[in-house]
Amino acid sequence: MPNRVVVGMQWGDEGKGKIVDLLTEEADIIARYSGGANAGHTVVINEDRFILHLIPTGILHERKICVIGNGVVIDLKHLFSELEELKKRDIRFQRRLLISQSAHLVMPYHKVEERLEEEARGKGRIGSTGRGIGPAYQDKMARRGIRAMDIFNPRLFKQKVEWNLKVKDDLLSALPEHELIALKNKSLDVLKLNRKVKPLLADVSWFLNQSIKKRKSILFEGAQGTLLDVDFGTYPYCTSSNTTAGAVCTGLGIAPSAIDEVIGVTKAYTTRVGNGPFPTEEKGKLGKILQERGNEFGATTGRPRRCGWLDLVLLKHSLRINGISKIALTKLDVLDQLDKIKVCVGYKYRGKILTEFVPDLRILENCQPVYKEFAGWQKTIGGTTNFKKLPERAKRYVDFISRKLNTLIFMISTGDKRNQTIRL
Ligand code: IMP
Repeated sequence: MPNRVVVGMQWGDEGKGKIVDLLTEEADIIARYSGGANAGHTVVINEDRFILHLIPTGILHERKICVIGNGVVIDLKHLFSELEELKKRDIRFQRRLLISQSAHLVMPYHKVEERLEEEARGKGRIGSTGRGIGPAYQDKMARRGIRAMDIFNPRLFKQKVEWNLKVKDDLLSALPEHELIALKNKSLDVLKLNRKVKPLLADVSWFLNQSIKKRKSILFEGAQGTLLDVDFGTYPYCTSSNTTAGAVCTGLGIAPSAIDEVIGVTKAYTTRVGNGPFPTEEKGKLGKILQERGNEFGATTGRPRRCGWLDLVLLKHSLRINGISKIALTKLDVLDQLDKIKVCVGYKYRGKILTEFVPDLRILENCQPVYKEFAGWQKTIGGTTNFKKLPERAKRYVDFISRKLNTLIFMISTGDKRNQTIRL
């Protein structure tokens, strides 16, 4: 079986959780390579709904090994509460979860730092998930971050905490003295988790490369989406890591040649949470309809997602950046009752039509989307498993997307359950 990457093609929340869950059947190992507890992957199994933030979705499949790579930033408290939640629901993870010893920790001061920075940004705030992700990656790049392995070296750990609090003094001095002391104590308390962490830490790169030699199949589970990538997204309204397929190599310590296939996931429309440009956003009634029918509320923060039409300019960008060879199209059924469906095929800006993504926020914020309009099918397709059984108008919509992107749509999701899926 091949080693495959599953990557989001939009601003996250494309329904990767369900797609990864389905593809997990064909893999031995499921590995997360970037992001942190800012992600929220929802999987529905029969009547049970699971939302995973840090732990790979593969944990829901007995006998599959799950890996969290060095590219992920880990909030240990969050990790253990997620594991506790799984335990309560009879999901066993002993000897099935490996965490990179080099992964950086999200510390209590990162969340405070993030809150203060967002407040200082005022109107220009990013609208982050508040999970301390940005500051954790900042510290990693500034070479003062605390790595998972540091938890076994209390002296180094304390030194690092003290150094970090000193460096951040300008920002943190906004806190009253007692809060600052409490924050330091809380940060040092992370050390107490060392016993629980020990059995989970491993040299993940070594393990994965050994597994590749043994012809095991790895599914690389992306978090967030291409437009949230710190290099290729709508900077600065993005996350602080590389979310794209290239990050698989640096986030897990495997070679590009080990990747056989990249699968892109997109919704049949577009959503985003947080601030930043969104050319096809529908701010009125239609946006509300998509939000309600699609249950578009953040799995991590519960915030309502902004909704709009599918944007092929963005998807073309995602195809190129990630090297996507096939697409899973999700939530097609959300469009069921609409009388008209639009797809953006270009942006009009200062009299010119642009058909390629531009990273310039002025253009993305001020362009007019150019739409191709379709008549809606206005029939219920929820739960359909056979492409032939889709209404002609729904088939036409799917065919148009596939043709315009020149890429196979190999899976269509028509509901949140595992079996509400068309495989082509
Ligand atoms: P951060 O990753 O918490 O720093 O948030 C930065 C931006 O990325 C904000 O707009 C968030 O709403 C967005 N974001 C981060 N993770 C996700 C995700 O998993 N799904 C959707 N949006 C996300």
